[in-house]
Amino acid sequence: MNFNYYMPTKVIFGAGRLEELGECELPGRKVLVVISAGGSMRRNGYLDRTISLLEKNGVKSVVFDKILPNPVLEHVDEGAEVCRKEGCDFVLGLGGGSSIDSAKAIAVAAPNPGSYWDYVSSETGGGKPLPNKVLPIVAVTTTAGTGTEADPWMVVTNPEAKEKVGFGNDQTFPVLSIVDPELMLTLPPRLTAYQGMDAFFHSVEGYLSVKHQPASDYHALDAVKLITQNLPKAVKNGKDLEARSLVAWANTQAGFVECLSSNTAHHSMEHAVSAYYPEVPHGAGLILTSVGFFNFLAGKAPERFSALAEAMGAIDFIAGLKKLIIDIGMERLSFSEFGITKSDARRFAEKSFSSMPRLYKLTPHQFTVDEVTGIFETVID
Ligand SMILES: [Fe+2]
Repeated sequence: MNFNYYMPTKVIFGAGRLEELGECELPGRKVLVVISAGGSMRRNGYLDRTISLLEKNGVKSVVFDKILPNPVLEHVDEGAEVCRKEGCDFVLGLGGGSSIDSAKAIAVAAPNPGSYWDYVSSETGGGKPLPNKVLPIVAVTTTAGTGTEADPWMVVTNPEAKEKVGFGNDQTFPVLSIVDPELMLTLPPRLTAYQGMDAFFHSVEGYLSVKHQPASDYHALDAVKLITQNLPKAVKNGKDLEARSLVAWANTQAGFVECLSSNTAHHSMEHAVSAYYPEVPHGAGLILTSVGFFNFLAGKAPERFSALAEAMGAIDFIAGLKKLIIDIGMERLSFSEFGITKSDARRFAEKSFSSMPRLYKLTPHQFTVDEVTGIFETVID
């Protein structure tokens, strides 16, 4: 019973609570608002609403709108340059995980010399200590997937190095996160499914991780239960505010789980897939690798799978997982639709070890490259 509990983010949770951005305490006077290049924040009116609430709160905004679904280094460094030039003293990520993660990475890079990649610890990252303090981060989430609003992690891809790597420290927790499920009602079914499954796997993997601990176990099992029960409803009827709210709370809990007990090699495997094929959504890559990975792991380290099955209301975790994939309409998803073939298996496996070895260490079975290649060969059609 030795564990740490550190979750310094103030979370404002609930339908309609974006309005409080207009009156709550904010960490600066001029903000860089980071959104995706896709245009949905403008189309849905979320950007205008956010800017006018900030204005009401006496904060000036500068918008940076280039972020891709798998954020790339170039845009982080460009955003940091804009942030410095405009003299912004904090960063707000508005949207899904990619926008919020990019906001975090910009908050790391803007006050520090050189490129964001100089500070990332990976095969090609510089791994340097940060000379200056990270800018304060605010998150307004419009999806329920990465849990980034309640954890210190950000994931950015360096396409030249073919590396998609997580980074974070005690300074990269958002100081404030607004989780307003009303902002999630417009999310299309396919994205709802991908993102909800990302949160599901964060919970499952945090529960299985060798770093598991009592506080994170509680959140992980509750999140697994809430997602199993409510994600299919949110996929079928996007306007179901109760289902959206329960999935959003599950996702925020999954963020707590990620802070406390991290993930497993399943995430290393997915990151290798989308490092080579950036068009594969993270949630899709996780779904596609999941049955093969967990089936193998359950054979090697079965101890903690029964509680997960019970949380899903299933006799067996793998059966519960397969049923959930059907319930959210993802049973026909395949690697081949992204042009991926079995010949990719070995380079995926090797890349997953070289880019994200840390999560392999947290997995309750010490995988070899051959074993992971074998799993990829079974799941690639
Ligand atoms: Fe994830």
